[in-house]
Amino acid sequence: MEWIFSLNEILGTAISFWKEVKDRKVVAFHGPMGSGKTTFIHALCDVKKVRDVVSSPTFSLINEYSFEEKGKELKIYHIDLYRLRSETEAFDAGIEDCLYSGHICLVEWPEKALSLLPEDTLHVYLEAVNADKRRLYIKYK
Ligand SMILES: Nc1ncnc2c1ncn2[C@@H]1O[C@H](COP(=O)(O)OP(=O)(O)OP(=O)(O)O)[C@@H](O)[C@H]1O
Ligand SMILES: [Mg+2]
Repeated sequence: MEWIFSLNEILGTAISFWKEVKDRKVVAFHGPMGSGKTTFIHALCDVKKVRDVVSSPTFSLINEYSFEEKGKELKIYHIDLYRLRSETEAFDAGIEDCLYSGHICLVEWPEKALSLLPEDTLHVYLEAVNADKRRLYIKYK
């Protein structure tokens, strides 16, 4: 499955992406700096109409959002591992607690802690096609 989209098309792509994700909880976003990982994750959060819950300075690698679906209060964790220095630090920051919480986790720079990711993580890849288009594709194992 793949999508090629500009910023104008990002919300439509995000809607289509959520349908493809189905009940997978952890999604790892691979892609070089500037490929659009944060921007796409924000679009995914916008589609779910999230509100910001906490942005704790101690756990700055993790942003927690909440949203309502079918009368239930659900969570999305946006985890950016770019600044992660060690697996000990990941443990201290509570990354594993998030990854195995059963809540949705959208992870940037997953290669910084691949061994921490659950077996059924969905791996997706982003790349710039040109200055104003990105390609996103899913690699199923
Ligand atoms: N689909 C898109 N089409 C065009 N431009 C985009 C798209 N997605 C993101 N951009 C632009 O690319 C730039 C980088 O985006 P973003 O910060 O999301 O990248 P990133 O992959 O999270 O980078 P980093 O690895 O540094 O966290 C921003 O200027 C953003 O506006
Ligand atoms: Mg980013």
